Amino acid sequence: MFVRVLGAGAGGGFPQWNCTCQNCVAARTDTPGFRPRTQSSLAVSGDGSNWALLNASPDLRAQISASPQLNPLPGGRMRQSPIKAVVLTNGDVDHISGLINLREAQPFSIYGSQRVLGVLAENSIFNILAPDIVSRIPLDLEKPIKLQGDGVDLGLQVEAFDVPGKIALYLEDESAGPDFGTQIGDTIGLKVSDTQSGKSFFYIPGCATVDEKLSKRLKGASHVFFDGTLFTDDEMLNQGLMPKTGSRMGHISISGPDGSIKAFENLDVGRKIYVHINNSNPVLNDNSPEYEQTTAAGWEVGFDGMEIEI
Ligand code: MLT
Ligand code: MN
Ligand code: ZN
Repeated sequence: MFVRVLGAGAGGGFPQWNCTCQNCVAARTDTPGFRPRTQSSLAVSGDGSNWALLNASPDLRAQISASPQLNPLPGGRMRQSPIKAVVLTNGDVDHISGLINLREAQPFSIYGSQRVLGVLAENSIFNILAPDIVSRIPLDLEKPIKLQGDGVDLGLQVEAFDVPGKIALYLEDESAGPDFGTQIGDTIGLKVSDTQSGKSFFYIPGCATVDEKLSKRLKGASHVFFDGTLFTDDEMLNQGLMPKTGSRMGHISISGPDGSIKAFENLDVGRKIYVHINNSNPVLNDNSPEYEQTTAAGWEVGFDGMEIEI
């Protein structure tokens, strides 16, 4: 099974268009050690020819152009694509708006929880992907499903599971209490397996906390791509960027007693890779002490174009 990180950044990407934080300025001026990141998405393939996207970011068009394996091969049908399916983990702008890039009457399948497919159904702009050409397939939690699209069996199986998180920002209901109206299925994680080799990995780009259930699920996993949004819960406040903590946004931090480094300490995960990394995060500087601390703890900091064979 082949995995390619299309974008390792969080919403806004790195550098973010309107941001003058130290990181964004350094990335914008090509400072060594600050690699730009596009927004949050992975591509996965069992056979190297047919691919599924895990989330569709607003940067998808550029991500496809930068990925030879995602481009159509000359010969055969005039209109065609190796992308046969898209699996969505939540309804965030950085994860669904890229679907618009996949218009032009190309058949494929969209998988998501009932909650997230509901968001697509309620926003008429997504009708540009006509449902009779682009099928919507609900993911039932804890029920593995084989991916298919455009008449192709991808040889991949996906199991969706609910993870602690928050409803998408633009759907928050202030009157609904501290969870803003969040329901089961608003944020899911994925276990993706190759049906031939039986090998698998986890993809969890948004997660508020690693609870006991999630720890048990991830214990002994060979590969986990995980929420690396922030290094510290209050880094956006401290840098004067936004008056919100990571926990308010539904994202665990990397460091600290409640952070993901600590939470994964005894989970015996083979390779742990941060994705969905916000531009405020000091791990985006390869020469920072925070990068050093993160990699010394056995984590990898994901980057665009990172490829892993599982
Ligand atoms: C998030 O990951 O918290 C969201 O993408 C934030 C946003 O919608 O900008
Ligand atoms: Mn996001
Ligand atoms: Zn910034």
